[in-house]
Amino acid sequence: MLGIETTCDETAVAVVRDGREVLSSIIASQADLHAEFGGVVPELSCRRHVDCLIPLIDEALNTANLSLDQIDLIAVAHGPGLIGALLIGLTAAKTLSLATGKPFIGVNHVEAHLYAAIMSHKVPKFPTLGAVLSGGHTSLVLMNEIGNYTLIGETVDDAIGEAFDKVAKILGLPYPGGPQIEQLARHGNRHQFSFKPGKIKERPLDFSFSGLKTSVLYALKNKDLTPQNKADAAAAFQYAALIDVVEKTALGSKQHNCQTIVFGGGVTNNRYLRELVASLLPEKTVLWPSPGLSLDNAAMIAGLGYHHYLKRGEGDHLDLEAQTRIAL
Ligand code: KG4
Ligand code: ZN
Repeated sequence: MLGIETTCDETAVAVVRDGREVLSSIIASQADLHAEFGGVVPELSCRRHVDCLIPLIDEALNTANLSLDQIDLIAVAHGPGLIGALLIGLTAAKTLSLATGKPFIGVNHVEAHLYAAIMSHKVPKFPTLGAVLSGGHTSLVLMNEIGNYTLIGETVDDAIGEAFDKVAKILGLPYPGGPQIEQLARHGNRHQFSFKPGKIKERPLDFSFSGLKTSVLYALKNKDLTPQNKADAAAAFQYAALIDVVEKTALGSKQHNCQTIVFGGGVTNNRYLRELVASLLPEKTVLWPSPGLSLDNAAMIAGLGYHHYLKRGEGDHLDLEAQTRIAL
């Protein structure tokens, strides 16, 4: 399988055998391009995808020591994401398919984040609770099997990674803010501030991070901040956001009787999150994505594409559209 990922600000191409074995996974991050803007600039992102994609396809094939005619399936993330960015990957996949006669298949990027942890381990016993924690999504899903999910909780405003990025901007840190906040928080005392994530009435598994971000903004406004104040704020924000995720994940797994929890998305790179999960959910089997499979990558796209193709027995047609939003 050749996987192609261009949903947001990483151009990525991978070659994966049998849905699991990563023969190559090349990721060209655009973080440098967007750093000064505090977030992704769609037009810049598209131009970079166009420049990078073809050379990355060559590089991924070369690294895997394969030629295009040895590929059986082309899998591409066709949503959710930025429309221009999605169109670049999808058009490349369709063109390759047309030129080679190989099938192509569109994959849901968010679903692929959940599959990333599964492909790093063995397929868990279903039903399993899935938690997607990324820059664009914060969702809790009941995974009935690969390809069959029930959404049980989601954010009503900002995604958790987005909240990390916005708070980083408030603290004067560059994009992407998650790793920066994590690092700064190590030197901070979270008890110096009291930040609370949102609770949604009668929807205990839904998230709200926008008020949390605003409370950081107001707590720091018009103050001469010392490096220590900033570290304390980073630690308090990080704790509030992550404990909320862990508590709601625990509640979801209890309500739905799930012994296994699968985490996916860029925020799962956070070591403090992994420590909180280990200490608060010691009785659960927890699957995390392997290094290289948490942040956006094309190996998870190729891996998931394999399962869907096997199940369906055919690929997609050339009229498959890019979708900025897709339900799981
Ligand atoms: O999954 P991903 O690569 O892209 C999306 O699909 O959105 O996630 C990127 C997000 C960014 O918001 C980034 O700040 C966040 O993941 N992130 C982190 C960490 N590493 C990346 N957030 C918290 N702690 C981290 N160590
Ligand atoms: Zn992603």
